[in-house]
Amino acid sequence: MSLKDKEKWDDKFSTDEYITGKEPSRWLEENAGLLNTSGKALDIAGGEGRNSVFVASRGYEVTCLDISQNGLTKARALAHEKKAKITTLHADLDNSSLLENEYDLVLCFNFLDRNLFSGIRKTLKSGGLLFYETFTLDYLKYSSFKREWVLELNELLQVFGDFRILRYQEVDEDPRAFASLVAQKP
Ligand SMILES: C[S@@+](CC[C@H](N)C(=O)[O-])C[C@H]1O[C@@H](n2cnc3c(N)ncnc32)[C@H](O)[C@@H]1O
Repeated sequence: MSLKDKEKWDDKFSTDEYITGKEPSRWLEENAGLLNTSGKALDIAGGEGRNSVFVASRGYEVTCLDISQNGLTKARALAHEKKAKITTLHADLDNSSLLENEYDLVLCFNFLDRNLFSGIRKTLKSGGLLFYETFTLDYLKYSSFKREWVLELNELLQVFGDFRILRYQEVDEDPRAFASLVAQKP
């Protein structure tokens, strides 16, 4: 399963074009006022690095973790281009565990693996921030995604319900439908 994922994403990231773009996710940029100016950050399934580079340029010491070597190579190139410093970590999230109390900031964009929810909760330090955005059930109207790849409505609110919810939205605008969260670990 993971080998197939790796091949799929290495293939998608094999050209010079940045398929997810070089600019950060809108949700991250719009809520950048909630970020600190230092600390350790983990970008889960960070791909070509757009969000890693953005938070690195805001002062965080960032690790961009992904299964795709091609994605991480492009992430390093983007960091170089934007004069930011990031660390890349080639890892398969199906077989990795996140260290406890390690990060002040966790980013997870356009990726869903429910087995990671407990790891995300653990790896954040108390007071740490989580930015999470990915597709919801509504997205099945516009795509051939499988149900297990999308969030249930309100799912992030339930999973991180004991965190302080700083921002939350669910958007359903053809052709996209997604949920976005910023939450702080107590
Ligand atoms: C849609 S991309 C999102 C990239 C990035 N978060 C963004 O929004 O720009 C999904 C990412 O998940 C990564 N991925 C998929 N399965 C993975 C796994 N088992 N372990 C680590 N990364 C994985 C892919 O390589 C890809 O970079």
